[in-house]
Amino acid sequence: MAGDCKAGSYDYRKGWLLNEKSVDGSFEAKAPYVDNGTGLVEPQRYFDPAFMRREWSELWTRTWLLAGRVSDIPEPGDFFRFNVGSESFLVVRGTDREIRVMYNVCQHRGARLVASDFGNLKEIRCRYHSWAWTVNGAICDITDRETFRPEVLEGSLDLSKVRHDVWGGFVFLCMDEKAPPLAEFLGVLEPHLAVYRLEDMVTVKDVEVEWPANWKTVVDAFLESYHVHAIHPEILPFYDDYHQQWDLYEHGMSRMLMKFGAVSPRHEDQDSVNDFLAGMLAEVGIDPEGFGKAAGDVREAVQKAKMKLSDRLGPTAGDYALNQMTDDWAYFAFPNVTFNIHPEGALVQRFRPHESDPEKMIYDVTVLIHPIRDPAIQIPAYMGVEEGTDCTGSTRPQRRYLTRGDGGVGPVLEQDGRMIPFVQAGMHSRGFRGARLSEQEQRVRHFHREIDRYLDGEKW
Ligand code: FES
Ligand SMILES: [Fe+2]
Repeated sequence: MAGDCKAGSYDYRKGWLLNEKSVDGSFEAKAPYVDNGTGLVEPQRYFDPAFMRREWSELWTRTWLLAGRVSDIPEPGDFFRFNVGSESFLVVRGTDREIRVMYNVCQHRGARLVASDFGNLKEIRCRYHSWAWTVNGAICDITDRETFRPEVLEGSLDLSKVRHDVWGGFVFLCMDEKAPPLAEFLGVLEPHLAVYRLEDMVTVKDVEVEWPANWKTVVDAFLESYHVHAIHPEILPFYDDYHQQWDLYEHGMSRMLMKFGAVSPRHEDQDSVNDFLAGMLAEVGIDPEGFGKAAGDVREAVQKAKMKLSDRLGPTAGDYALNQMTDDWAYFAFPNVTFNIHPEGALVQRFRPHESDPEKMIYDVTVLIHPIRDPAIQIPAYMGVEEGTDCTGSTRPQRRYLTRGDGGVGPVLEQDGRMIPFVQAGMHSRGFRGARLSEQEQRVRHFHREIDRYLDGEKW
């Protein structure tokens, strides 16, 4: 099925364009090609403990990291915990309603303070010798203080704070004071994603799974669609996995614009309005029986119909480009978050390194949507939101802690989960010479090039 089904050649400097008529400077316009070379990606970076340690000291501690949602801490004392690698952070709404991000560590002898992911605190009290802090991080109780010689308690005893900022309803933190401000770091992502109003979205799914692979093995898989025909063939009838627009930006950011409502050129039947396309038509009120056109006309018909239903999609519906109505605009926020985003909502995937094992990682899947009051609006199926989920925003589902293979991440993501361990295992082979990347995988190359910049001391 793959390979020779498409005629013609590919000009890597031009690439494919989502919209041949896109206006220069518009959000859908293609970014200039970034030449990251043609070198092989060496396998050691996917399993070498020394490489993992360098990543910790040079990358994770120096970049902006997505910690969680502002909406999870509405009231004073509310907190969520964010663990990444060997660190743990508490993101807390203070008594003054300010958000603070603090290292989750006791100033007495270093015990981790809080052992749950969400909750409300009246104070932060250590379980070991009962020192305590206010929810704002100020020291308020030292057990048997008189038994410490005064010099021992000199200097700040408050919890250590870390730099943070808020964007799109997400709290980000950065352990490095020298890193640029978050908005500068995110670059084009901020204006490009503003129209979706991420800050107004509600959480309808929150899943955490440990996968037996390096975090980059998994990120790589979500930066390309080259594997779709092989492991997700069921989506080819309504997804053009070949003609994608890939855009590479500063600071390792990138995107791919994925045409939904269009048949893959790899699919055997190019003309019939197949069941999936018929479903997309029906969703926007077009009777598939009376459609009277070919498969190639469906995407545009759905876009136009959906634009007319703008009241269902919220007040800014008129600000979307037509192809945003159908397509999946998939952005990568370096180093470890992807946003597959639609007017209805976003699939947010976060890839966290394990605390000590380079061949384990934590895969977080969050689905955010604009609250749905109109039952006609449907969440794209690949997001894996289960039947019966409350999509009105009145309840926030609890985080589920899954084991790979449980199936709770949704069928398409589960297919990735089954494939990844085979890739991780093969990286070790003495017979593997290094990854050879196509231009369909240019975002993977861009990602690794940016990691190298951190490791080689080229960043701030
Ligand atoms: S380690 Fe926390 S009070 Fe002793
Ligand atoms: Fe996949």
